[in-house]
Amino acid sequence: MQRPLIIALDLDNAEKRKELLAAFKEEKLYLKVGMEMFYREGAQAIHELKEQGHSIFLDIKLHDIPNTVKRAMKVLAGLGIDMINVHAAGGKEMMKAALEGLEAGTKAGSVRPKLIAVTQLTSTDQAMLKDELCIWEPLEDVVIHYAKQAQEAGLDGVVCSAKEVPLIRGYCGQDFLTVTPGIRQASDDVADQKRVVTPEAARELGSYAIVVGRSITTSETPYQTYQTMKAKWEGNHEKTNC
Ligand code: C5P
Repeated sequence: MQRPLIIALDLDNAEKRKELLAAFKEEKLYLKVGMEMFYREGAQAIHELKEQGHSIFLDIKLHDIPNTVKRAMKVLAGLGIDMINVHAAGGKEMMKAALEGLEAGTKAGSVRPKLIAVTQLTSTDQAMLKDELCIWEPLEDVVIHYAKQAQEAGLDGVVCSAKEVPLIRGYCGQDFLTVTPGIRQASDDVADQKRVVTPEAARELGSYAIVVGRSITTSETPYQTYQTMKAKWEGNHEKTNC
């Protein structure tokens, strides 16, 4: 199974994105387009990136009534994206509707985009779960419960911390995809991420894909940093000079 390193395109504007991608020359990348970029630049930017041969994870985290999510997913599937997500908190019916929408919107002969669920945001802690969301269960149990709900709804996987991967794969099986942000090299600035994991640790923990933002986008040499992190993620770093 090919395991992607997904670059999070969290940049201020289109010029900065183009400047960053220019450093990668002809390399075909897996890129994460978040709400900020999608709301700013819309479908046109996705079409451009697809034309350049890149794969796209549209990190749009839909959460609404099932009918609205289904209709939105049908439209978004038409963009030819490769992966998209919803909040598991929207419930099983909503997740099933999202999947139906994606299937309906996928062009004949194309592969349906992978659909994954956000279990609990990494900005949510145990106190917030209890005090603000009125959820009294341990955070870890909530994450497992949501992952199982997502699987029962037919989704392909979840976004989670790499540290949660062994547990989730234990409950949902080895084929259930785990897409893990919060990745840093040992020497990197952690910034606002709380529980970071190195690419090599994410590999050992069994992540399906890692999402890397600032370690690459703020690097003075983004292409070299990408290659180094990719080699570590793929377990090839001992064979390179990095
Ligand atoms: O710059 P950094 O590597 O921390 O970026 C991580 C990316 O993954 C950001 O786009 C962030 O929004 C996203 N993300 C996350 N934690 C989640 C879900 C998404 O960091 N639980």
